Amino acid sequence: MSLTPELEAAFNAQITMEYGAAYSYLGMSAWLESQGLPGMAGWMRAQSDEETTHGLRFLQYMLDRGGDVNLGQIDAPSTHFDAPIDVFRASLAQEKEVTASINAMYALAVESKDFASIPLLDWFVAEQVEEEASVQQIIDDLERGGDSGHTVLMLDRELGRRGATAEA
Ligand SMILES: [Fe+2]
Ligand SMILES: [Fe+2]
Repeated sequence: MSLTPELEAAFNAQITMEYGAAYSYLGMSAWLESQGLPGMAGWMRAQSDEETTHGLRFLQYMLDRGGDVNLGQIDAPSTHFDAPIDVFRASLAQEKEVTASINAMYALAVESKDFASIPLLDWFVAEQVEEEASVQQIIDDLERGGDSGHTVLMLDRELGRRGATAEA
């Protein structure tokens, strides 16, 4: 069974979205690094790498299903922010958009009885829960500490450790 044209278009759009998220995280990482926050920058760099693996996963799946791959245009991401908390808020907003997109694809797969796509989409549904929760935690910490110099520094060191583990 080949992908329906609707699902094919949705998978193509999702590949573009994942690479767009990777590019966006790269911009966030660059700004954080320029602010002297290497831990947060490294965490964002790891996020960026992870998004490219998501894009590749969708791409390989489309190829496995004999889909017609069409890569879309990616907008230039922001590389300037007012404060670290704004970076993480932008990240959460982006993750929520991705979640909505994956949920819509899931509904499309069920509707068109494309059961082969379900395991892949299940993985992404669970991944989005984790992604949103981890960014939300950082926002909560920054809000609790009032986005103060001390809180930002402490989180920078903590996220630096997590980034180092993720890259290992
Ligand atoms: Fe992703
Ligand atoms: Fe993500």
